[in-house]
Amino acid sequence: VIGIANLSIQSNIITNFCLYLQPYKAYVMQHLTHICHYQLCSYEELTEQDRNLVDIAKSATRQSYAPYSRFHVGAAALLDDGTVVVGTNQENAAYPSGMCAERIALFHANSCYPRQAVISLAIAAYHDGKFTSNPISPCGACRQVMLETEQRYGMPIRVLLFGVSGTYIIEGGAHELLPLTFDASSLGK
Ligand code: THU
Repeated sequence: VIGIANLSIQSNIITNFCLYLQPYKAYVMQHLTHICHYQLCSYEELTEQDRNLVDIAKSATRQSYAPYSRFHVGAAALLDDGTVVVGTNQENAAYPSGMCAERIALFHANSCYPRQAVISLAIAAYHDGKFTSNPISPCGACRQVMLETEQRYGMPIRVLLFGVSGTYIIEGGAHELLPLTFDASSLGK
C-alpha cells in the first residue's frame, strides 16, 4: 500500500513538472463595452400613460409579501391590448423559494394573456417607510425573463424604473440591461 501511495505522489510531481515546462501562454485581456441607453425623467415629466403604470407599480408594493427583507417591490406590465397586470415580491422562510415582483408580473401576464405582447414594465420599491430614492434595478434573473418575453413577442419591453429622485426609461428593453445574453440561439434554436 505504501509503495502504491509513493508511486502516485511521484507521478503527481512528474505531471506538475511537465505542466511547468509548457510554453507560457499570454492571454490578451478583452474588453466588452456595454452601453445602456436610458432617459432620466422626473415623475412630472412622465407621460400620462407612463405615470399611470408607475402609479400602479407603486400601489402594488402594498400587496408585496416581504416579512424577511421588508423590501416591498411592485411591478406593473402593460400589455398590447391595454390590460395591466401586476406582480409583487413573495418571500418565503426558505429564502430561495421566494420570487421577485418582475417575474411574477411577467409570468402572470404570459400565463393569463399568452397572446398579448408586453409593451412596458414599471417597477417601484418601498423600504423603510418610503419609496427608494434611486430607481430600483431588476436582478439578473428578472432581466433574463424579460429577455425571453421580448423574444417571445418579438418586441422590446419599455422598462420604467421608478425612484423618488427620478425614473429611468429604458426603451431598448432587456438587451440594454444584459450584455452577452444567453437565449434560444445559444441552444442552437
Ligand atoms: N426583489 C424584487 O422583487 N425585484 C427586484 O428587482 C429586486 C429584489 C425582491 C426580492 C426579495 O424579496 C427582496 O426584493 C429583497 O431582495
